[in-house]
Amino acid sequence: MSSEIYRELILDYYRNPRNFGKVEPHDISARDSNPLCGDEIEIQVRVTPEKKIGEIKFTGKGCAISQASASMLTEFAKGKPLEWVKELSKEDIFKLLGTRDLGPARVKCALLSMKVLKTGTYSYLGAKLEDGQDS
Ligand code: FES
Repeated sequence: MSSEIYRELILDYYRNPRNFGKVEPHDISARDSNPLCGDEIEIQVRVTPEKKIGEIKFTGKGCAISQASASMLTEFAKGKPLEWVKELSKEDIFKLLGTRDLGPARVKCALLSMKVLKTGTYSYLGAKLEDGQDS
């Protein structure tokens, strides 16, 4: 696809975000902001008994790339095992966005939602380990 089509796709996700909102009740909730601009992403997840991502939604405010990548990530992550989140890489995010042709500031925008999902998942898994429920 041409970069024009990818740009259109990013704008479409920005204007019509999929999975925008809150998950109630949720098992995972995390938020973070991009220090360069203050834009924010919050992600909430309900975990299935099989330790998969059952429901996942995001809220936030910010640029098209940060919001579109969060929306794309929620679609991509739904149904995946929590362990999969550990393997998630910036290459996956670039693939979702359809481009890796981003300046350094924009890379932070693109990766913000991945950071939030990882932070929330790691602390959930850590909390479960501490509870002794993860055996
Ligand atoms: Fe703030 Fe992109 S400019 S996240």
